[in-house]
Amino acid sequence: MPTPYVSTAPYLVEYPYEYHFVINEAQKCEQDKPFMVLLVHVAPLNRRYRDVIRSTWGSEDLVHDKVVKVFFLLGVQTGEGTQDLHQQLLQESKEHRDLIQSDFVDCYKNLTIKTMVMLEWLNSYCSNVSYAMKIDSDTFLNMPNLISILLEAPRTNYMTGLLVHAAGAIRNPTSKWYMPEHVYPRSSYPTYTMGLGYIFSLDLPKKLIEASKHVKALYIEDVYLGLCMQHLGIAPTNPPGNGYFHDHPLEYSRCGYSKIVVTTIHPYIDRVWLWEDFKRPDPYC
Ligand SMILES: *[C@@H]1O[C@H](CO)[C@@H](O)[C@H](O)[C@H]1NC(C)=O
Ligand SMILES: *[C@@H]1O[C@H](CO)[C@@H](O)[C@H](O)[C@H]1NC(C)=O
Repeated sequence: MPTPYVSTAPYLVEYPYEYHFVINEAQKCEQDKPFMVLLVHVAPLNRRYRDVIRSTWGSEDLVHDKVVKVFFLLGVQTGEGTQDLHQQLLQESKEHRDLIQSDFVDCYKNLTIKTMVMLEWLNSYCSNVSYAMKIDSDTFLNMPNLISILLEAPRTNYMTGLLVHAAGAIRNPTSKWYMPEHVYPRSSYPTYTMGLGYIFSLDLPKKLIEASKHVKALYIEDVYLGLCMQHLGIAPTNPPGNGYFHDHPLEYSRCGYSKIVVTTIHPYIDRVWLWEDFKRPDPYC
């Protein structure tokens, strides 16, 4: 009897594969010559999150004399209403010129594709930029602190964020991060930077794309980048201080937030209010 075929597909993603940009901003980096670009990973339907970011930390486009650009990276929505949504996105793109959409299906299981498409986009259109950051949409970012760190950072082979060392591969099938042994046999992952927000020098996209041809594309995007970094023999580095990155929402205080780089934020917090409070001209602490 032949052994039954076991599909590994749910834990692997379709990459490498030639995806195409449906909405693009091909000239922005060449025209504006930013020091850093931020790519916010967000679902197509999540206009509200994009608008909040545009009116809060995403509005800071000149920080410590450095030009910063924020883009939103989307896949495509499937199911009902996709035509309407497409029209709305075209309109939003016309208004803001900050959307990048690629033709893979946008869902949790496809986030690795989103990350790789981000690297391809950076490599194709922003290779002269010094640094890029991948950031989630439910976050607060202290841009001045981030730029201060980067002004002192290495220009090549550099990746930083919230480092996770020797995390165990989760073998419990009910977990959101389940990883079957037949897909990833080793018991732990190499050091990686947590997905909420990580920063890298612009020589890395090309190298990581090359590495991805040799490393099976697992669905957990930050772990996957860690595996590609390991393949390249480049270690992510700690930021030059503790407490800069918060994966669990850090309770808001002006003083606390003045000392961090990024934190996730609870969805019930009014982020526009928080931002206005944070930007008051009073001393932080
Ligand atoms: C990138 O920088 C190099 C050297 O400064 C320059 O020659 C080239 O035209 C730039 N490319 C783009 C796309 O801006
Ligand atoms: C991920 O995207 C690919 C390419 O668009 C698609 O074939 C696949 O069905 C998507 N995965 C899921 C779980 O929807």
